[in-house]
Amino acid sequence: MKTETVAAIDDRRRRSPTAATERAVELLRKGEVVALPTETVYGLAADALNPIAVAKIFEAKERPRFDPLIVHLPDKQWLGRVANVDNRSRAQIERLIAQFWPGPLTLVFDRQAIIPEIVIAGLDTVAVRMSSHPVFAEIISAFGKPIAAPSANRFGRISPTTAQHVFDELGGRIPLIIDAGPTAHGIESTIIALRDNRIDILRRGPITAEQLADFGKINFVSSPQRVSAPGQLPMHYAPKTPLRLITNIESFRPKQGKRVGLLAWKPRARKGDLQAARAVTDWRSLKFVAVRELSEKQDLLEAAANLFRCLRELDELSLDLILAERVPAQGVGAAILDRLERASHDSDIRDTRG
Ligand code: TXA
Ligand code: MG
Repeated sequence: MKTETVAAIDDRRRRSPTAATERAVELLRKGEVVALPTETVYGLAADALNPIAVAKIFEAKERPRFDPLIVHLPDKQWLGRVANVDNRSRAQIERLIAQFWPGPLTLVFDRQAIIPEIVIAGLDTVAVRMSSHPVFAEIISAFGKPIAAPSANRFGRISPTTAQHVFDELGGRIPLIIDAGPTAHGIESTIIALRDNRIDILRRGPITAEQLADFGKINFVSSPQRVSAPGQLPMHYAPKTPLRLITNIESFRPKQGKRVGLLAWKPRARKGDLQAARAVTDWRSLKFVAVRELSEKQDLLEAAANLFRCLRELDELSLDLILAERVPAQGVGAAILDRLERASHDSDIRDTRG
């Protein structure tokens, strides 16, 4: 299959839908899959109410059928049609939605019968969100129905934050990628479920625990007995290269002849201190064959936006090991750490890559 990439002209002043929107909607109506930008990561979209279209998502991603998909809504009115909102938590849900929708917050509800089994992998619940990306919003509103969309990567791999990443993952398997440049948040949406006014965080993301604490008592569902979100599987979001999370890189000594790359958080040196900056750069280049900075400004939001791109770049260098510096665990830093912990699958520096 030939994969076409169409740039979305981001001119929101135009009333008529752009060519990219028309093309995407045409394919969605035909029951095809299309890769679309969202504010978090690129998604692989299909008509959520068409089980055959949704099956094509699983096929293209090689995603196991037990892994349910997030349903994206065209507007808030759709919520009651796809989900059964519990009366006891209705007020809390309305406050959360008023605050965070459209945006990177996914909520898990009891499902309505309109949602095909394949979307929810046979669960009684459905995960729902509303994307704030202008291109996604235009496409879904022209389409007029809910869209099922997981991240547009092959199963178990790093989520794509650019159209090129999507092409690298799924080129030849899907007909269309809509390109709207790099995504803003760079990590997947926060997923929560509400239980008796308690907020269970199933997956950390751009909406932080600190932000959610205003809306209920927070409970982290870290390693559940039964995995309800494979984003919770210990090994997920994995680069091919072994990755190790480290607090203090100064004490790290690479084994002889091993090619080690650094995913750096700590600054090279204080601003303006050129000499110190050079010293650190020299010292680093002695140990590491490649260094990627998450955020030169030490900004966690920027670090999140750069995370998957940096990981992909390091993963392409045939390294023996990627060393990732711990970021602070506050705010979106906790979501970054969570991704890095799941990405780390280094026992020792291996000679062969599996
Ligand atoms: O930001 C995002 O959420 C992106 C963009 C494209 O919207 N989507 C995304 O989808 O990350 P995906 O499929 O890669 O991750 C969705 C996660 C999976 O771990 C899945 O198991 C979980 O959501 N999930 C889906 N339905 C669920 C449900 N009913 N209960 C619990 N977890 C659910
Ligand atoms: Mg995913």
